[in-house]
Amino acid sequence: MVRTRFCEVFGVDYPIVQGGMQWVGRAELVAAVANAGGLGFITALTQPSPEDLVAEIARCRDMTDKPFGVNLTILPSINPPPYAEYRDAIIESGVPVVETAGFNPAEHLPAFAEGGVKVLHKCTSVRHAVKAQELGVDGISIDGFECAGHPGEDDVPGLVLVPAAAERINIPLIASGGFGDARGLVAALALGADGINMGTRFVATVEAPVHDNVKRRLVEATERDTELIFRQLRNTARVARNTVSTKVVSRLAAGGTFEDVRDLVAGTRGRKVLEVGDLELGIWTAGQVQGIIHDIPTVAELIDRIVTGARELINDRLAAAVR
Ligand SMILES: Cc1cc2nc3c(=O)[nH]c(=O)nc-3n(C[C@H](O)[C@H](O)[C@H](O)COP(=O)(O)O)c2cc1C
Repeated sequence: MVRTRFCEVFGVDYPIVQGGMQWVGRAELVAAVANAGGLGFITALTQPSPEDLVAEIARCRDMTDKPFGVNLTILPSINPPPYAEYRDAIIESGVPVVETAGFNPAEHLPAFAEGGVKVLHKCTSVRHAVKAQELGVDGISIDGFECAGHPGEDDVPGLVLVPAAAERINIPLIASGGFGDARGLVAALALGADGINMGTRFVATVEAPVHDNVKRRLVEATERDTELIFRQLRNTARVARNTVSTKVVSRLAAGGTFEDVRDLVAGTRGRKVLEVGDLELGIWTAGQVQGIIHDIPTVAELIDRIVTGARELINDRLAAAVR
C-alpha cells in the first residue's frame, strides 16, 4: 500500500493521477484508472458540447462505482469554447473533482466551491502554483519540462521544479511530467510531492482509446524522440517527433508565423493520428517518458506494478542503502 494525504483529500486508494488528455481522456480509460484505485480525468473538451460531456460522465459511471474527475483545459483563444457551460455541466453531473489547466482558474473557482467540486490545478511554474494555492484550490499538479503537451516557457525539469514547489505549497502536491513507473513514484515522494500524474504512460495501456500503432510507437521511441513546437510563439508544446513536427519547427525557425503552420498543426489531423494510426498524418502529443515505456499493460497491471514496485524499492534498495 502506498498512501499519502492526496488519497485522503481526493478520496482515492493510490496517489496516481491520469491527467486530462485531448481525444484520449474518455470513459474507457478513466473508468479503468478509477477501478484500479487511481484518479482519472475525462477531458471535457474532447466532447463536442457540454451535453456530450454529461453523457460521457454517465457512460463512465456505468463502468465504475469509484470516484473520477473531469479535466477543464482553459486556453485563451479567439473563439473560446463555452467554458462556463462545460464547468456547469461538470458541477451538475456531481463529479467530485476537476483538473483545471492552461490558465488561471480564478473565474471558475467560486462555482466549483459552491458545487462541492474539489479542484486539482495543473500548472508549470512555482509562481503559478503559489497563486493557485492562494486562490484556494485543493491540490496542485506541477508539470516539469519533460512533460507531454504544454511545459510552459521556463524549461525547469521536475528534479528541480518539484522540490522548489514543495517548499512553497502546503496543500497536496502532485508531480507531473516524466513519470511512468515505480522509480518515478518513489522519486516524486522523495522530492516532496504526494503522488504522481501521468499522461503518456497511460496512452500506452490496453484501455487507452487510441490506435495500436500509437501505443507501439511509444514503446519503440526513445527519450530523444519528442520535439518542442511553437517555441517562437511562446506557446511551447512537446509532441512526438515526426515529419510534421519537424516541418513546423523549421518553418517557424525560418521566421514563419502561425499562418505558415496552421494547416500542419490542425487538431483534426492530430486526432486522426490517434484514430487511424498513421503516425505521420499530423501533430500528436507525447512526452520524454516514452524512453522508459517498454510494454502495453492493462491500467490495472500498470498501477499495481507501480504501487508494488514502489514499496519494494523503498523497503529493499533504499533501505539497503542506509543500512
Ligand atoms: C495525448 C495527450 C494529450 C494531452 N492533452 C491534454 C489536455 O487536453 N489538457 C491538459 O491539461 N493536459 C493534456 N496533456 C498533458 C497530460 O495531462 C499530463 O499533464 C502530461 O502528459 C504529463 O506528462 P507525461 O506525459 O510525461 O506523463 C496531454 C498529454 C498527452 C500525452
